[in-house]
Amino acid sequence: ADLSALNTFGLRARAARLLRLRSADEIGALIAAPDRAPEPRLVLGGGSNLVLRGDFAGTVLKVEIAGRRLVREDAEAWIVEAGAGEPWHGFVRWTLEQGWPGLENLSLIPGTAGAAPIQNVGAYGIETADRFDSLDAVDLETGECQVFSLADCAFGYRDSVFKRNPGRWLVTAVRFRLPKPWQAVTRYADVERELAAAGIATPTPLDISDAVVAIRRRKLPDPAEIGNAGSFFKNPVVDAAHCARLLAAYPTMPHYPQPDGREKLAAGWLIEQAGWKGRDLGPVGCFERQALVLVNRGGATGADVERIARAIVADVEGRFGVVLEAEPVFVGGDSR
Ligand code: EPU
Repeated sequence: ADLSALNTFGLRARAARLLRLRSADEIGALIAAPDRAPEPRLVLGGGSNLVLRGDFAGTVLKVEIAGRRLVREDAEAWIVEAGAGEPWHGFVRWTLEQGWPGLENLSLIPGTAGAAPIQNVGAYGIETADRFDSLDAVDLETGECQVFSLADCAFGYRDSVFKRNPGRWLVTAVRFRLPKPWQAVTRYADVERELAAAGIATPTPLDISDAVVAIRRRKLPDPAEIGNAGSFFKNPVVDAAHCARLLAAYPTMPHYPQPDGREKLAAGWLIEQAGWKGRDLGPVGCFERQALVLVNRGGATGADVERIARAIVADVEGRFGVVLEAEPVFVGGDSR
């Protein structure tokens, strides 16, 4: 099966087998008949956080489980559930239309609802963990269904127990806890500016969603038009002394204090300073409007992506002494 259209980077690769899963029940049957889904297995949602390094020798399990519903409402929150295959942005807008706000800052993120907890997707001041209730997953080793609480997921920055154990669980449904009363989260500078420019002093959830959509459309490439996997690197965290040394040399460098006293730096800024913004290496480029995003200018392979990524990491390390870490999941080829 050709995977080119199943990864938003548009990288050319094939899988030995591709199975589309439309319900949780089908998965148990698969485990019982392992010859139908030879290992290794790759669970795929929207393919928007993926770098295919080469062909995949096993089975791709494409999650297409639909469904969205209000599980319950009490004095403290709305609990809403999405089937893992629901397109994320459609689900967010649907919750807003229903009058259940809380996910608006996460508007227009590519991918599926089931993928949101895998890397704890976050944007504009909110991450999945902040709105998470629980999820259902199938253990692909035993075929058992398991419910994961917030603590079970062990969320970190763009990280979770699922990302650390690739291929182990297949998420089938995710429940979000949307707290009452709703409170706007507008402290992110870009969001503040966008609302101010529109003359909105007390935004509704829909206003915030629209502002985030406008910001993302301006800064981030639409995968339907140009292949990419969103942020290609994580924002690095350094100790306070390292940050202070850099600030002495670069007083305008963005930096965000962390609860543990360390400082998070903006990888996009470091990459831009290193001269990579808008530059190409072969068929892969560093995006001209957001240096943290690598884009497929046409016909790129995983090897092309790795080549420019290595060059960027080396330049940023040489200049700032900071080693950038890739953010998407790498699979296929000589997969790690
Ligand atoms: N910056 C530059 N040059 C650039 C890009 C950014 O100087 O080319 C500076 C900006 O001016 C700003 C700072 O870096 O001062 C941060 O930039 P931005 O607000 O665009 O956010 P980011 O840190 O680059 C992160 C997430 C995004 C998320 C945005 C908004 C990561 C790895 N990325 O990007 O998430 O949408 O914040 O919250 O944490 C993703 O994970 O795929 C993703 C797009």
